[in-house]
Amino acid sequence: MKSAIKVGRGLLRKPAWARLLGRRVCLVTEPEAHRRFGRKLLDALRREGIEAALHLLPAGEAAKTLACVHSIYRTLVRSGLGRDGGVIALGGGAVTDAAGFAAATYLRGVPWITVPTTLLGQVDSGIGGKTGVNIAEGKNLVGAFHQPRAVICDLAVLDSLPLREVISGLGEAVKYGLVFDRAFFDRMRRDWDRLLALDPLALAPVVRRCAALKAEIVAKDERETTGLRELLNFGHTVGHALETEAGYGTLRHGEAVVWGMRAALALSLMKTGLPKADALDAGRVLAQIPVPRPPARPERLLARMRRDKKARGGRIRFVLLKRIGRPVVAAVTESEARAALEVLR
Ligand SMILES: NC(=O)c1ccc[n+]([C@@H]2O[C@H](COP(=O)([O-])OP(=O)(O)OC[C@H]3O[C@@H](n4cnc5c(N)ncnc54)[C@H](O)[C@@H]3O)[C@@H](O)[C@H]2O)c1
Ligand SMILES: [Zn+2]
Repeated sequence: MKSAIKVGRGLLRKPAWARLLGRRVCLVTEPEAHRRFGRKLLDALRREGIEAALHLLPAGEAAKTLACVHSIYRTLVRSGLGRDGGVIALGGGAVTDAAGFAAATYLRGVPWITVPTTLLGQVDSGIGGKTGVNIAEGKNLVGAFHQPRAVICDLAVLDSLPLREVISGLGEAVKYGLVFDRAFFDRMRRDWDRLLALDPLALAPVVRRCAALKAEIVAKDERETTGLRELLNFGHTVGHALETEAGYGTLRHGEAVVWGMRAALALSLMKTGLPKADALDAGRVLAQIPVPRPPARPERLLARMRRDKKARGGRIRFVLLKRIGRPVVAAVTESEARAALEVLR
């Protein structure tokens, strides 16, 4: 099922879109998003004649546990939510991942809508129907595919985002340009300063393009079976390893992906014949994204990559670039990966 995607300013003020879920909903959010937008959204939902219950998750990665999902189920039962109602997830990727997993499994699945409030959420985590939680053994190890009925990207909510969250989202947005769309990459490059300043005129087309690209790819390969969706993982093989190695939440997702893209560019130079000019263009933009230096520890990162869901037979699968806008999947040996991790030093 394809999700309807809405991008604009002020979409939370008149939430007629929530009618897609019926007359009864549960708003799942976290304290910061609730204080800033949730309270008003609850009032607006009620003005639309929709009965709305509330469930508050803890902020950040702490929301992505089975215990939190269990507590959502209990609120859903207590509020009398049946299959004729649905869940609205308001927050960053942590909220949408956990709330989406609750929606995917409560009563064997009830409809839901995502309202991503971070830039990362609007370009990536709020779209595509991957939901889930972490367990002690690893991040996102438990989850389900469950497409939201709609994705509501209200650009106004981004005004209050801390700079680091903006940067994390822009890191992910650059990925779409590098992998799928050279012209889009060039436009982002040109508008870079305006993007960092959250200039709405520069930002709106970026959110629109990334959301559309992700939705299009997911519609063609919802469950990651044809290889198309895998291309979204450019920068993520090293990125995920770094995120876990640094400790959840220490390195923002998009920051880890920026380092991962640097490593993937180094590998592309070694293996795919990526032209030097393309590597320079890409490298220059990535160098402009102020991300904290990660823990290098190459052997530990390699061990994590070996355990990656996508590793096969001692080789690690990477999404690389033949050119900007032309991705290719390649098996990489450990010594090649080790050499690429030099970019982290
Ligand atoms: N399902 C997917 O496809 C997918 C893809 C990428 C990442 N993810 C997951 O997303 C999570 C990261 O999501 P995230 O980067 O959005 O971070 P997050 O959900 O942890 O939120 C980051 C912080 O921003 C605050 N915040 C949220 N909206 C705000 C606003 N508008 N103004 C001010 N503060 C605001 C929150 O309180 C929180 O402290 C990770 O768990 C990652 O695994 C999922
Ligand atoms: Zn990502």
